[in-house]
Amino acid sequence: MNRRGFLRTTALAAGAMIFGRTQSAVAASPKRIVKASKFPVGSSRKFVAANGAPAFLFRTKSGVFAYSAICTHQGCTVDYLKAGKKLVCPCHSGSFDPFNSGKPVAGPADRPLDKISVSISKDWIVQA
Ligand code: FES
Repeated sequence: MNRRGFLRTTALAAGAMIFGRTQSAVAASPKRIVKASKFPVGSSRKFVAANGAPAFLFRTKSGVFAYSAICTHQGCTVDYLKAGKKLVCPCHSGSFDPFNSGKPVAGPADRPLDKISVSISKDWIVQA
């Protein structure tokens, strides 16, 4: 290998290492959802999960938890009805209990909403 070839190969390898390091650093960082101090016990809110899908976040005395807002029946987007404390699907009247592992309580769905792993890290609620 001549000098020019050596320099080109070295530059490409260094670029690949830097790009790879940047990509892994981005992938490893948790997604911030909301500041914990702005989301007290008893709060709920919709957010966009790391995969781009809608989701719901809850905070109770026992901690924080979240579910995908994609209905497990046929994929419509559920909404949280605070008065009834249920995640309700508008398509076929499916209903899920966010305070009981997202289990279906009414309608045609036969499995719970998908859980999303969240935690409190410093002053942020993050998706792991
Ligand atoms: S798509 Fe949600 S109940 Fe059918």
